[in-house]
Amino acid sequence: MWSIAKKLLFLLDAELAHDLAMQSLKLSKVCWSSSTTYEIFPRTLWGVHFVNPLGLAAGFDKNGECLLAWQRLGFGSVEVGTVTALAQPGNPQPRLFRLPQNQALLNRLSFNNMGAEQVAKNIEKQRCDVRFKIPIGINIGKSNVTPLKDAAKDYRQSFTVLADLADYVVINVSSPNTPGLRDLQEKKALRGLLDVISSENQRRSHPKPLLLKLAPDLHRDAAMQCAEIAVEFLLNGLVISNTTVARDNLRGEIPDGLGGISGAPLFEKSTQMLSYLHQAYASKLNFIGVGGIMDALSAQIKLKNGADLLQSYTGFIYAGPFFARNILSSLESW
Ligand SMILES: Cc1cc2nc3c(=O)[nH]c(=O)nc-3n(C[C@H](O)[C@H](O)[C@H](O)COP(=O)(O)O)c2cc1C
Repeated sequence: MWSIAKKLLFLLDAELAHDLAMQSLKLSKVCWSSSTTYEIFPRTLWGVHFVNPLGLAAGFDKNGECLLAWQRLGFGSVEVGTVTALAQPGNPQPRLFRLPQNQALLNRLSFNNMGAEQVAKNIEKQRCDVRFKIPIGINIGKSNVTPLKDAAKDYRQSFTVLADLADYVVINVSSPNTPGLRDLQEKKALRGLLDVISSENQRRSHPKPLLLKLAPDLHRDAAMQCAEIAVEFLLNGLVISNTTVARDNLRGEIPDGLGGISGAPLFEKSTQMLSYLHQAYASKLNFIGVGGIMDALSAQIKLKNGADLLQSYTGFIYAGPFFARNILSSLESW
């Protein structure tokens, strides 16, 4: 069934196929009476219970519209976003491309999302569904119209609106498609940003677990410095990693222009980064390993290199609806 559906979906423009899949998931949720979760290698981090380690990565359900679907498909968590303070359309289309010879995607979406207020409403409606049980991460970023010097205010606004609805919050300073965003990984800018969010968090009666998502294109010293700053501001963990701007070792024709590569070609780079950061900071930070998890073997390698939790996006696009359940049952049987 999936192989036929995949052939049809892959005939469509990649973003149109994504939007159709989201629409059908939204419609089908009314038919789901069960609240089944896939309880395999459960773990509790920061007081949050994860029924299994494999989550859906940020960017798929940017507006938090299909939460129950991800649980139903076997994922142990979902990261909504990236959400920005202001609603925005993102870059002009086409902006999402499949690279099937590489088992990869190239995207230059640039945080198309409904904005923090509307996403909060979307999540609020679904959180009270008794069937829904998996943790929700909310990933926040900077609105395109906000100048970089005012980034912290913009992040703080999203954080204030969304934190109550999140089991953990991810500060995204690593998407390649928002001009200047990655400069927030630089020491002074990162300190300024984390100071604002972390202080806002500490003012809450129940502070939320905070994580930082980094780019795989950082040099090792710069990545270690980001980890050190995360520890300094009492963050709980790192998400390693976002997409890469590198175009190394890609086969076939690659669309011109900017954008981040995800999927198989990102695996080695993001896993190496995970490994050295974990070796240095395992006692102080938890790690979400993401980048090129396409099957059970790549998932297991991420775990061996220090991931406490896993996430995937591109693997799910290529493998289809049984992706999470197949990986989890293979991990269980090994
Ligand atoms: C189409 C697309 C959109 C994405 N949007 C976001 C986003 O909004 N925020 C974010 O932090 N990461 C975003 N990502 C990055 C993913 O969350 C993930 O870090 C990256 O794709 C590597 O994982 P993968 O190889 O399993 O896809 C996006 C990835 C893709 C392919």
